[in-house]
Amino acid sequence: MQTGDILPYVYVRGENRIQQPGTRHRLDWFPYEPVFKDPLDLDQLEFAEQIYHLENNAFGPAGLAIPRWVFYDCAVMPGFVAGFAMKSAKMPSAIRQVLRWKADFDWSPLSLFIIIPTMKKGEWVAHNLCAVNSLIGEDHRLYGLGFLSKAFGLWYANVESCCGITQWGGPALKLHTHFGHLQILTAYTPVHTHAQTMTYRSQVDPKVWEKFFTRERDDSFLQKYEPSGAMIDPMSSTSQIAIQRRIQGGEGPFYLSAAELSEKKLTEPLTLYRLKGSYG
Ligand SMILES: CC(C)(COP(=O)(O)OP(=O)(O)OC[C@H]1O[C@@H](n2cnc3c(N)ncnc32)[C@H](O)[C@@H]1OP(=O)(O)O)[C@@H](O)C(=O)NCCC(=O)NCCS
Repeated sequence: MQTGDILPYVYVRGENRIQQPGTRHRLDWFPYEPVFKDPLDLDQLEFAEQIYHLENNAFGPAGLAIPRWVFYDCAVMPGFVAGFAMKSAKMPSAIRQVLRWKADFDWSPLSLFIIIPTMKKGEWVAHNLCAVNSLIGEDHRLYGLGFLSKAFGLWYANVESCCGITQWGGPALKLHTHFGHLQILTAYTPVHTHAQTMTYRSQVDPKVWEKFFTRERDDSFLQKYEPSGAMIDPMSSTSQIAIQRRIQGGEGPFYLSAAELSEKKLTEPLTLYRLKGSYG
């Protein structure tokens, strides 16, 4: 980023532009003016085509590629897309090969994070996150790209509370627990395309973001929460349904520990935490 070849971008229709970006969370990670792209401008259609290409490649194998009308009606109209883009002419060949790329494009997206405001004040939904890292060999990856894309979007839009939807056993959960203490809203979600999906809410807190990179333990988590005695198995729908029933029965809220997720394999059972003193 210091060379200016990679910058954050904001793909937003004019009327949805954030009025005072980056004023809620004190953070000096993104001192750059983002590249702006407008989904309503015919002359900028190519940027959308590049986003579609990246997104479809990242999510196609899971059967979750975003249909164009969903992207437009449900993402771009109410919310916006953020991420990092690279000057197309500067893009290394290993990355070019997996993107929709031409030397005469100006900027090419390397990642995308779609975020949509909800009817609850201060609460948004993280609708989509992907990074070119998932499509290229280890040697060419830009470490932290997916994490920083979400961080940038949350910071930029002054997001207080962020809900999201992710599949159990997927690598993204390791990222999502590092944006603020994460509460499980649903442990099993048959309304979704994939029933073994969890819905969460994070209270966005940049104090824990750095720990994603430093791998320090978040002491504030253990000061506030304790193991509930229950575990959830990311590989077992029976376990997820049992926890979902307990949440519906009022036994929650349950939380996941970022430190535990970073130490465990994606397939291992996870401890469910609860607020200290919330039982008995
Ligand atoms: C999930 C995704 C956004 C992560 O972005 P990324 O740029 O690859 O990840 P980052 O560089 O920001 O973070 C790296 C960390 O992510 C986790 N991670 C990323 N890919 C992983 C994988 N395949 N397996 C296990 N962990 C993985 C690890 O924790 C890794 O850190 P560590 O191994 O050093 O502990 C990206 O892999 C992606 O686009 N996946 C396909 C689409 C998808 O599943 N999106 C999530 C929907 S909720």
